[in-house]
Amino acid sequence: MALVSAKEMLLKARDGGYGVAQININNLEWTKATLQVAQELQSPIILGVSEGAAKYMGGYRLVMAMVRELHDAMGMTVPVAVHLDHGTYEGAYKALEAGFTSIMFDGSHYSIEENVAKTKEIVEACHARGVSVEAEVGSIGGEEDGVIGAGELADPKECALIASLGVDLFAAGIGNIHGKYPANWKGLNFEVLAAVQEATNRVPLVLHGGTGIPSEMIQKAISLGVTKINVNTELQLVFAAAIRKYIEAGKDLEAKGFDPRKLLAPGVEAIKAIVREKLTMFGSVGKAN
Ligand code: 13P
Repeated sequence: MALVSAKEMLLKARDGGYGVAQININNLEWTKATLQVAQELQSPIILGVSEGAAKYMGGYRLVMAMVRELHDAMGMTVPVAVHLDHGTYEGAYKALEAGFTSIMFDGSHYSIEENVAKTKEIVEACHARGVSVEAEVGSIGGEEDGVIGAGELADPKECALIASLGVDLFAAGIGNIHGKYPANWKGLNFEVLAAVQEATNRVPLVLHGGTGIPSEMIQKAISLGVTKINVNTELQLVFAAAIRKYIEAGKDLEAKGFDPRKLLAPGVEAIKAIVREKLTMFGSVGKAN
């Protein structure tokens, strides 16, 4: 199956009452591990690529070339979308040009008028190529690749406006933040989520900051229209911890333990375990067809 836009898989998830994971990728190991688990569990999957991660990997075209080749070599049959995460105006066009199948334009830091104008234009350009578009209102808290959000609660009226521009998926700040949640975190604001759902006319909703949100909150969010849940930091944490353990045990000093294929292997297994856990928690296992 060719790479697909995120639209159909998310409409199916919305109607089926489950969520699809957006797993953010950082390199070859991340991409391969995520694709392997999605195929093994027969789950649709969205590979998230932030602008910083794309730059690190050598640019949007290189990311697409890597994903396409891996996708073919691994004989992937489940739906896979490649999604620009928190795209800027310029980044959205570059990723579209490079062949991304889904684009998030994050205009949450613009005035609502400018967010509307830019989102509208990007929706037109993306839809002309069958590419899905995610828009955002009310910035998500925390820091991601230098983009700092204050963790606002979205205004449902602004959500209604942006969602009416033909976007395929919609992210709203509902008290969620990127990175680890602080001990005094108040949790997701389900009142705002319910109001956003009502205001956005059943557009599939996106929950950013998936790291560390308890399963019960995820289930409730799904019941209120969330269909895509983004996870990034949690994978970075387990990857680093697994490799730390390997090195602290002195395994890199034994025989050819320094070989990157051996050194990174525990990190890759740790990523796979979390991806398995998330796909199961979100309910997308076995939903590839
Ligand atoms: P976390 O890093 O908190 O999992 O958030 C990921 C995310 O929302 C990507 O857009």
